[in-house]
Amino acid sequence: MKRRDFIKKSVFAVGSTLLAGSAMESLAAMSIDDEVSDSNESKQDKMKIVVLTGSPRRNGNSAYLAEQFIKGAQEKGHEVYRFDCAFKQVEPCRACNRCGMDGPCIFNDDFSELRPHLIEADMVVFATPMYYFGISAQMKRVIDRFYAINGRIKGHYKKAAYLMTYANTAKSDAEPMLLHYRTMMDYLGWESVGEVVAPGVWTAGSVHNTDYGDKAYRLGKSL
Ligand SMILES: Cc1cc2nc3c(=O)[nH]c(=O)nc-3n(C[C@H](O)[C@H](O)[C@H](O)COP(=O)(O)O)c2cc1C
Repeated sequence: MKRRDFIKKSVFAVGSTLLAGSAMESLAAMSIDDEVSDSNESKQDKMKIVVLTGSPRRNGNSAYLAEQFIKGAQEKGHEVYRFDCAFKQVEPCRACNRCGMDGPCIFNDDFSELRPHLIEADMVVFATPMYYFGISAQMKRVIDRFYAINGRIKGHYKKAAYLMTYANTAKSDAEPMLLHYRTMMDYLGWESVGEVVAPGVWTAGSVHNTDYGDKAYRLGKSL
């Protein structure tokens, strides 16, 4: 994968998503129930699923969604590898391009443990809190390291899902993160099979008082 292609494809993906602004709104309105029933129609064999969590709160809201998703997926017999980004030693990408977007990275840190799982995964799940309208830095740091395996994961079909939590109650606050996730999925050529968006949860564990955990569970169980 050439850097120029990466840039071109990224610009194209962002442009087309922005042009489809109103279409995005209707996509955002798609409920998890729609997603679950869709994926129920296409049952498949046991998958290797990588779950990335992004919160430094071990018992936080996004971790709970991840746990519920994992419970459902494991009940269906899928194999889950969980990587808690906030508790791993992962250097931020230094943009040295020594990897050429498809090769060894100059860093030998905990990403080396994740790397083969990502390449082999049939599905990747991102579970993150909202930090200033974006994903957590802990998770972004890990995603940026995808750069060294870009050639091994881009255009290699995978399913994906997004689990996100935030304190405010406005639905529109979630749009920048959803746009980022969907643009990234377009670029990678992965298929998003579900988004669980949990607003109104601030203190750690407050998501227990909502039905978002159940939605995450049912998403995992629907695979
Ligand atoms: C650094 C930081 C930034 C945050 N930024 C936002 C924000 O922009 N909007 C919001 O609604 N909540 C924001 N929150 C609240 C968290 O998104 C919310 O508490 C979330 O449920 C935390 O998930 P967790 O329990 O998995 O860590 C922020 C919290 C922190 C610590």
